[in-house]
Amino acid sequence: MTAQVLNVLALESSCDETAVAVFNDRDGLVAHRVYTQTDLHEIWGGVVPELASRDHVRRLAPMIVRTLEEAGLGGRPPVGGVAYTAGPGLIGALLVGAGVATSLAYAWNVPVVGIHHLEGHLLAPQLEPDPPGFPYLALLVSGGHTMLVDVAGVGRYRVLGESLDDAAGEAFDKTAKLLGLPYPGGARLAALAESGRPGVFEFPRPMLDRPGLDFSFSGLKTAALLALRGHESDPVAKADLARGFEEAIVDTLAAKARRALAATGRRVLVVAGGVGANRRLRARLAEVAAAEGVRTAYPRAEFCTDNAAMIAFAGHARLQAGERGGLPAVARARWPLEELRAPG
Ligand code: KG4
Ligand code: ZN
Repeated sequence: MTAQVLNVLALESSCDETAVAVFNDRDGLVAHRVYTQTDLHEIWGGVVPELASRDHVRRLAPMIVRTLEEAGLGGRPPVGGVAYTAGPGLIGALLVGAGVATSLAYAWNVPVVGIHHLEGHLLAPQLEPDPPGFPYLALLVSGGHTMLVDVAGVGRYRVLGESLDDAAGEAFDKTAKLLGLPYPGGARLAALAESGRPGVFEFPRPMLDRPGLDFSFSGLKTAALLALRGHESDPVAKADLARGFEEAIVDTLAAKARRALAATGRRVLVVAGGVGANRRLRARLAEVAAAEGVRTAYPRAEFCTDNAAMIAFAGHARLQAGERGGLPAVARARWPLEELRAPG
């Protein structure tokens, strides 16, 4: 007799993406959808938490119906378990996903589990056709987080270093704003940097002169503000500045990743989060990997940014191992990654 397939429905609503996915142990990822609220927040120059929560309420139910249809799941209950992002993130936004997921699980009488958002990002490369085996070193670089994490297995995470202030993506976005680029400006700043010349503007490499693996990016933004003075309406200088700024962030991330590889002896470097899309960062990390003789692994672009497929993967692993959440629903704005334990 073959074991029954466990279909897991997962919801992600920690910030400004509403996402739904279904994952099972036979077919892997069966269906997934992401709705991004960027247009809603763009005019405000950043994510407005109240608007984010309200939009999750509006989008989530119809997206669940469509994702279940896409997965060909019409039975009652349609899935064997439900997972949702329980934190960290915007509390109002998290509460929408947590409330809906827990209610569905209660109505369907199936188990439910709350997932740490960063666990999702760290496990996202496992959704790829040639997934990296454990253990690996992960560089997580997103709008909200910059971290080096030693990943020994599901739930076995050691934070080796993290940003003491702004995340790398946040630094990109804030400097992009200074340059007059619309939110979120990271990718636009990177595009502008393509036409900029290296070495015209030199920015500090924060904390590279100190031992350890922590980061600090808020000083870079101030340096960019000062460097821009007198060049506000000079497009060539702005491109040069974007280039110098990007080089500083990329250099810092690559140097610390190299340090962490040397310290841990891990053979695989996983890069996750939206800033992982940056071409110059990818090129520099490829050089680091070649020098250290290690392999790099990236989730596909749509799974670098927020999505529910990664939450479905993590939720499936935990539910399969017998982990149960239940009532009440959990939503935590802050949640240290190292509180997690291996499932089972
Ligand atoms: O992982 P993600 O969706 O953020 C969080 O959920 O926190 O990543 C979004 C971040 C934004 O800060 C965005 O500006 C940045 O990733 N980003 C980039 C690039 N593409 C996206 N930063 C630099 N270069 C890029 N090409
Ligand atoms: Zn994220």
